[in-house]
Amino acid sequence: MNRRHLLAALAATGAARGAPAQSDDRRLRVWRDPSCGCCTGWVDHMRASGFDVEDNLVASAAPVRRMLGIPSDLLSCHAGLVVGYALEGHVPAQAVRRLLAERPAGVRGLAVPAMPTGSPGMEVPGQPDDTYDVVAFDGGAGRQVFMRFRGGRAV
Ligand code: CU
Ligand code: CU
Repeated sequence: MNRRHLLAALAATGAARGAPAQSDDRRLRVWRDPSCGCCTGWVDHMRASGFDVEDNLVASAAPVRRMLGIPSDLLSCHAGLVVGYALEGHVPAQAVRRLLAERPAGVRGLAVPAMPTGSPGMEVPGQPDDTYDVVAFDGGAGRQVFMRFRGGRAV
């Protein structure tokens, strides 16, 4: 997806924080590397959780991340956009639903940095699940723990 198309996509979502819940809350755009298996696992998880996923295969998600304002210290393996909120990495659908229900002030998006074992799409049979944070970020240096999970379960 080129820059012009991305801008059009951003405009189409409204990209408005604090907007009332609406039917396109389920619309999720994802940008990922075509060869990444765990990204596919996360897309499947989001679809199974009721999100309507537009799956964009890109050689590099870096330009998208810059436009979405995803901080470089929170990087994982794929980027997403849902109703104007940026997503990075294996964010559980439960956390995304809560974000959309609560729409906390100042939050630009959620990230699960790196790729914790047991996060949605990162399940490894026989390996213990990691405990990891879903981090809410703003447009600057602000970071907050939004939720904490062990594997697929909130703790
Ligand atoms: Cu991954
Ligand atoms: Cu991924």
